[in-house]
This record gives sequence, C-alpha cells and structure tokens, in this order.
Amino acid sequence: MNETTLVLIKPGGVSRNLIGEITRRVEARGLKVSGLKLMNASRATVEEHYAEHRERPFFKDVCDYLTSGPIVAMAVNGTNAVKAIRAMMGATNPIEALPGTVRGDLALTIDDNLTHSSSDPEAAARELGLWFPEGTIS
Ligand code: PPS
Repeated sequence: MNETTLVLIKPGGVSRNLIGEITRRVEARGLKVSGLKLMNASRATVEEHYAEHRERPFFKDVCDYLTSGPIVAMAVNGTNAVKAIRAMMGATNPIEALPGTVRGDLALTIDDNLTHSSSDPEAAARELGLWFPEGTIS
C-alpha cells in the first residue's frame, strides 16, 4: 500500500552531521523524500506532536530535546512506508535496536535516539498535517 510517513531527525542527528546518512538510508531503501525542511521547531508544535505523552514522566525532557537545536522534518513516501521506516530506524531505545538500523548503528541512549518516525498510518496523517500544513509533494 502506498503511504506517506513522517521522519524527524532530532537535534542530536543534525548536530552530528547525520542528515545525509539518515536520508541516504531512506532513499537507498527505495522510498521517496516528498517533503523536507530544516527548522527550529516551536515549543507549541513539539508539545502538540507529543500530546499523547503529555502525562508521561519524560514529556518535558523530550520536548526540551526537540527544541534544543535545529531538526529536520521529512515526509517519506512509498510502499508500506510507515512500517518500512519504523523498522529501518530500529527500537525506540537504541540499546535494544538491532545492528543495521539507524539507532542500532548510530545511537546509544533513548534521550538522544536521533529520529522520530510515525507509529501507524493514522499517526502519520496527524503528524504530517502538523509538520507540513502546506502539504507534501505527491
Ligand atoms: S513509542 O515509540 O511511542 O512506543 O515510544 P515511548 O517509549 O512511548 O516514547 C515516546 C516518545 O518519547 C521519547 N522518550 C524519551 N525522550 C527523551 N528522554 C527520555 N527519557 C525518553 N523516553 C521516551 C521516545 O523516544 C519517543 O519519541 P519518538 O520521537 O517517537 O522516538
């Protein structure tokens, strides 16, 4: 099924010059970048993005992290893009992420896990609307 999903390269990924490496992996898989921007995310956008986690103990930490420096917001399109990207990024906690995944190869700790990717098609639609209100390239 053709899908579009959201990838965020978090501030740690941008500051470590991993924009190219992460984007290369996405494109090498056969997926298309259909939206791309480097930005300083507003606190309001990040809090809205993580709204379902508002009551979780890490909510402030994750919002602090996402607003600590520039991020890349990327829309990615292709067959089963949501699942393909989640698998490619690896487990949320990098210490559990398999080698070959972005986190398994490039990250060590959950507070600097390099990327966000949408968990399912419904989340993808909501998150793409938040980060790409102007729409993506189809
Ligand atoms: S998931 O994928 O929703 O099941 O992950 P979950 O464990 O519920 O975590 C939700 C998001 O919060 C991030 N997170 C943290 N960030 C910083 N510090 C700490 N301690 C922390 N714990 C969890 C986690 O990376 C998830 O964000 P995304 O952007 O989806 O990776």
